Amino acid sequence: QKDGYRFFMEKEIYEQADVITDTLLGRLSVDSVIFDELDKSLFEGINEIKLCACGTSYHSALSASYMFERYSKIKTSVEVASEFRYREPIMTNDTLFIVISQSGETADTLETLKMAKKAGLKTLVICNVDNSSMVRLADSSILTRAGVEKGVASTKAFATQVTIFWMLSLYVAKLKNSLTSDEIASQIHLLREVPASVKVSDAMHEKIKRLSKRYLHGHGFFFIGRDVFYPLALEGALKLKEISYLHAEGYPSGEMKHGPIALADPELFTIALLPQHLLYEKSKSNVEELSARDSTICAISPIEFDKADDYIRTKEHAHYMLEFFEMMVAVQLLSLEISIRLGNDVDMPRNLAKSVTVE
Ligand code: F6R
Repeated sequence: QKDGYRFFMEKEIYEQADVITDTLLGRLSVDSVIFDELDKSLFEGINEIKLCACGTSYHSALSASYMFERYSKIKTSVEVASEFRYREPIMTNDTLFIVISQSGETADTLETLKMAKKAGLKTLVICNVDNSSMVRLADSSILTRAGVEKGVASTKAFATQVTIFWMLSLYVAKLKNSLTSDEIASQIHLLREVPASVKVSDAMHEKIKRLSKRYLHGHGFFFIGRDVFYPLALEGALKLKEISYLHAEGYPSGEMKHGPIALADPELFTIALLPQHLLYEKSKSNVEELSARDSTICAISPIEFDKADDYIRTKEHAHYMLEFFEMMVAVQLLSLEISIRLGNDVDMPRNLAKSVTVE
């Protein structure tokens, strides 16, 4: 069943090109995104989007907030479901409430969906499981088509969620005329390249296997990035925590100097996401500050960075979102290889369940 892979997680990382192809299937024309499952009236009278989720799905929601504001020009906020449900939130009916869940059964997320419905909001779920509780309850649903995800640490579900959000932000951009047809067409062209960008190259996997042995015994990891690479940093840190049991935190690169940099020393490992097409110079100077304080740096970038101790080279892409997807694969593989070296059961990490249906 593992088709020669050591763990389901590894197999699922390798499957990402195929499942994203499925996610895109029939949903792209030359200059528009097609969601037959959505009624266009879903966005009528909507001035704000609120996203709510847990864990990895929360990270994809966070990445969506950048895309909805940048491409769809619509005010967007993101909430952790377990917080949202108890904090007496203000809900107005010009808000579209979107929940994101691989399983469609996560108790806290399901509860926020019930609250939004009760408050009379329009609701949408982005989900991987048809006929799940959330799909049945929400007004509309978009399925991610990632297939069954067996590894407890989510990989391909995250990849398809981010793909859907990129598409949805363009879908809304078309409805709201916030991007020109040419701009939408060129982004659709890029979307078609996502499967190629997540294809695992032997060179990258071998490199990560080799360098993973340096990263087993430090006192902690920082994953850092800016903009959409910040949610990716959070996701990288979560993956590592889940399966390696090492301490890892995701941070916006610019936040280092506000406290965390005090931890920097050679035993503090910084995994730096340095895309070429988004705030490269800003991110680079944050990494230089960490390097000057002797943190051990692993740079993930298409541009060689002389202050790094290790370097995972990504390909040159035409757009930062394609860089995002390739870097996503790099951080997934890094967690996988560190966990394997530590002798852990990658697919069944201690203390975790695949679906959290209790509070
Ligand atoms: C992390 C992971 C969890 C889930 C979270 C939400 O690898 O799998 O953080 O993302 O429990 O689950 P869903 O998406 O099913 O609502």
